[in-house]
Amino acid sequence: MLRRLHHDQPDHFAFTPDNQKWAEAQMTKYPEGRQASAIIPLLWRAQEQEGWLSQRAIETVAEMLDMAYIRALEVATFYFMFQLQPVGSVAHIQICGTTSCMICGAEDLVAVCKEKIAPKPHQISADGKLSWEEVECLGACSNAPMAQIGKDYYEDLTAEKFGQMIDDFRAGEVPVPGPQNGRFASEPLKGLSSLEGFDSGKTKFNASAQLATDLNDTVKRIDGTEVPLLTPWQGKPANRTSKPKTKAKQGHVEADRSPKATAKPELTSASPTQKKPRTMKAPRKAGADDLKLIKGVGLKLEALLQSMGFYHFDQIAKWSADEIAWVDDNLEGFKGRVSRDDWVSQAKILADGGETPFSARAKKS
Ligand code: FES
Repeated sequence: MLRRLHHDQPDHFAFTPDNQKWAEAQMTKYPEGRQASAIIPLLWRAQEQEGWLSQRAIETVAEMLDMAYIRALEVATFYFMFQLQPVGSVAHIQICGTTSCMICGAEDLVAVCKEKIAPKPHQISADGKLSWEEVECLGACSNAPMAQIGKDYYEDLTAEKFGQMIDDFRAGEVPVPGPQNGRFASEPLKGLSSLEGFDSGKTKFNASAQLATDLNDTVKRIDGTEVPLLTPWQGKPANRTSKPKTKAKQGHVEADRSPKATAKPELTSASPTQKKPRTMKAPRKAGADDLKLIKGVGLKLEALLQSMGFYHFDQIAKWSADEIAWVDDNLEGFKGRVSRDDWVSQAKILADGGETPFSARAKKS
């Protein structure tokens, strides 16, 4: 399947303040320099907020994680859990069309979608509420045929039952996820033939269907205000530190990433063509500039620059070639970023009170 960015893109994207907070907390789960690992949760959050992933949403997430846009785009276009075009305001329905489901009636479900939603996949229904597509195996083959709707699986479907569900979604109801033929989970339809004494009756529905029902978190959009925000480490120190390692291992000494060591990195002049720029102990009285207005500088890089003594555009604007080489070499985990994104030219414009296309976009969003 061709997965491309939608032809009609919004001008900007921004997380809601609560989602922004949640996203930043996700980033603290990973070790220093490995924030790109948060790409999938952040893209997913952006999609939950907006319903689909716009180019600006993908770029925003890439900027937050200090990733090249193309890397974020690769992730967004690879997984079909990410919607690259607008979807129905109530739900987007993904019908599994792979072997088990196809044999058990997936084509009938697709026919229902064509009749009740829109003739073509990714087309939004006339009332704007629903859209659909056919996807590959969703891993619920023993409950075929099935569909993923919102965050949940609806299994053991028949055309009739599925048609009724679509009507219910349209009417603002949320049918209970899970098997739709009376099964609890994926046990034999005629009842258990083994583990007969197994007591699965502690909850009304199976674990995932019960949780979805209890949380009421199925097809609704997420804006971050729902509680609890599932970042239990919030309020605790971020897991970015490891015990100082003093022993050399295979000729390599691990960097001490204890808070004390990371607060002010040990800066080096590794080459005679490098020169350390002048640094400041603290920002000027008016406060530090928002260095994130420089394309390529995200939250982490801004913090790193400040820890090195760089707080203002005019400091960066003055870097000479030797000084750029020095900073490039000392940006632990981000080496080469100054020249890659030409920070100096951008900083010159910003220091003079001007705007770059990036800073204008960032301010808007
Ligand atoms: S074939 Fe449909 S879930 Fe696996």
